[in-house]
Amino acid sequence: MTQRVLTGITTTGTLHLGNFVGAIRPAIAASRESGVESYFFMADYHALIKCDEPDRIERSRLQIAATWLAAGLDTSRVVFYRQSDIPEIPELTWLLTCVTSKGQMNRAHAYKASVDANVAAGEDADAGITMGLYSYPILMAADILMFNAHRVPVGKDQVQHIEMARDVAQRFNHLFGRGQDFFVLPQAEVEAEMELLPGLDGRKMSKSYDNVIPLFEGGSKALKEAIARIVTDSRLPGEPKDPEGSHLVAIFDAFATPAQRAAFRDELRAGLAWGEAKQRLFDQIEAEIGPMRARYEALMAQPEQIEAILQAGAVKARTLAAPLLATLREAVGLRRFQPLKAASAEAHKAKSALPSFKQYREADNLFYFKLVAADGELLLQSRGLLQGREAGQWVARLKKDGAAALADAPVSVVAAVDHVHAALAALQDVEAQSA
Ligand code: TRP
Repeated sequence: MTQRVLTGITTTGTLHLGNFVGAIRPAIAASRESGVESYFFMADYHALIKCDEPDRIERSRLQIAATWLAAGLDTSRVVFYRQSDIPEIPELTWLLTCVTSKGQMNRAHAYKASVDANVAAGEDADAGITMGLYSYPILMAADILMFNAHRVPVGKDQVQHIEMARDVAQRFNHLFGRGQDFFVLPQAEVEAEMELLPGLDGRKMSKSYDNVIPLFEGGSKALKEAIARIVTDSRLPGEPKDPEGSHLVAIFDAFATPAQRAAFRDELRAGLAWGEAKQRLFDQIEAEIGPMRARYEALMAQPEQIEAILQAGAVKARTLAAPLLATLREAVGLRRFQPLKAASAEAHKAKSALPSFKQYREADNLFYFKLVAADGELLLQSRGLLQGREAGQWVARLKKDGAAALADAPVSVVAAVDHVHAALAALQDVEAQSA
């Protein structure tokens, strides 16, 4: 059975080497396994909880998206999107909020830590605590349950949130399922690697310890400067060094093959100077990161290209989210009133205002099609196709299957995803009626 793996990164700030080694690199490697369907996203609604600086939010989500892509994410295999492009997620959040007990949220670590800090400082227990922070775990549960993820790779600090997601899912299934389960119960996956990379001072690499090595920001110069600040012991050049306890070696290991690891250890035992060791470490990291940084910079110079990729990802994600949410609305009783027998005048009016597909050939001799709204707005634009027949077949498929066909179709979504979905749904209705 296909395993769905899902993970998100909160978009505040930039990423460091620890995020790359612990989260991004293993996630991309896992997405290449067969039998795995991956969902990776920018948790930008979560970012709003911690940050009220709009420019910082904007920049961070762009940087983090560019980082995933530069690190080799294959968006034809992975559903890659921004949380805030999926309106079904906040809608699901509300449905879940209504079945989540307040007592359980009182026990969430992040909230409890804030309360404890307030109490210790002699402040009101809830000083500075927003409802966003308080219900953070419910939004996270919606992220996960929306796509029925089986596995959720996270850091240790997030395991409690996955357990909460399971509880909420169970409760919802039980209350409304009538024997049918809407949600898969997700499993947290804490990879050993996730916690391992030490920072400059040997503690876990983390922004909050101010001991990070930046991933791309500042270029190779910043990388080199950070490495120069790695704390080592005071053994002099020529003196034998103990590679086992050294966090410089642990960082080296994260970028080296077994043979390179052994060779580095031998050199240190033979008296390699720490300065030299740092140069080796720099070369080792730069060999892996350097080419990615070049791609990162190229991507950052073309935000519109990233935007297009994320819009396409949102279409794919919503192809799954929208039908599940429709089922859930139905289940809780948010149902349509009995459909009226469509008065034929109404139907006629709707028909005359329909969007339409246009097929044409360009000077490049390729065949194209596009979807244009009744008011002339361009909604979808195809790529150039070698065969006119192919264009015709895609148009037929989009009319028949609607948004579900978008993920595979050779098109870019030009307009707001909502418009495109509505237009395709309207054409699909017509198609169904005439079938
Ligand atoms: N809370 C996670 C973090 O800060 C980010 C996140 C948001 C997430 N939604 C998620 C991770 C869903 C996994 C699944 O690290």
